[in-house]
Amino acid sequence: MRKPIIAGNWKMHKTTAQARELACGLAAELVDYKWAEVVLVPPATAIATVAGAVAGTKLAVGGQNLFWEEEGAYTGEISPGMLQELGCAYVIIGHSERRGYFHETDEDVARKARAALDHGLSPIICVGETLAQREENKVEEVIGAQVKAALAKVSPEEAAKVVIAYEPIWAIGTGRSSSAEDAQQVIGFIRRTASEVLGEKQAAELRIQYGGSVKPENIHQYMAQSDIDGALVGGASLSTQQFSSLLRAAIVEEK
Ligand code: PGA
Repeated sequence: MRKPIIAGNWKMHKTTAQARELACGLAAELVDYKWAEVVLVPPATAIATVAGAVAGTKLAVGGQNLFWEEEGAYTGEISPGMLQELGCAYVIIGHSERRGYFHETDEDVARKARAALDHGLSPIICVGETLAQREENKVEEVIGAQVKAALAKVSPEEAAKVVIAYEPIWAIGTGRSSSAEDAQQVIGFIRRTASEVLGEKQAAELRIQYGGSVKPENIHQYMAQSDIDGALVGGASLSTQQFSSLLRAAIVEEK
C-alpha cells in the first residue's frame, strides 16, 4: 500500500515570522490528521524555523532545491547535507520553475536526485509538459524522456523513497487544472515507464503526485484515481485554513 503524500510548496513566499505562523497553525489544525503524509516546503531561509515549529508532530519538512556537491565554492547553493541537518526529509527537484527560469536540465535533475538519496533525503522529482507539447500530442514522448532521465541514477531498491510529481506546466498557478482522468492517464504512463527502468514491483511502490492548481474543491477527484498517490500544492498551501481543508477534502476511504 502506498501512503498518500501531499506537499505544500511555498515557493518564494513567507518571511520567517510568517512561516512560523503558518507552520504552527497547521500543526495545531492537523494534530489528528493521519490519512496522508504531509510535507511543508518553505523557502530555504525559513526551513529551520518551520522544522522547529513542527518538531514532535507528524508534519515533515522539505527543501525546494539542492546542489549535488557536498560543499565547495558554489555561491548561493545549498548542499543535501545542509538540508538534512536542518531537519528536511524531502527535497523538490526539477520543478518546472527551476527548469525554466534557472535552466536545469534532465541531467541536473538526475544528479540532484542521486545526491538527495545519498544523504537520506527523499526526492520529489517534478516532470511536466508545456501546453504546446500537449497540443502537439507529445505528452508521452516528453514525460517518458523526463522520467527515464530522472530515474537513471536511482536503484530499484530506492523506488519506495522516490516521489514523482506530474505537473503539467500549463496548469501551474493558472487555475486551469488537468482533469482527474487526464492526470490519471499520464500518471499511469509514468508508472509504466518507471517499471521499464526499475522493474514492475518497484514501480508499484513509487508514489506519484499530481500538481497544478490543486485546491480544496478539486483534490478529492485526483485522490480517487488509482495511480495518483498525492499532490504537490502551490497557492493553496499558503494559508492554514486552505491547506488544512484541502488535506481533509483529500481523504479517500477505499482506493
Ligand atoms: P499551484 O502550484 O498549486 O499554485 O498551481 C503547484 C506547483 O508549482 O507545485
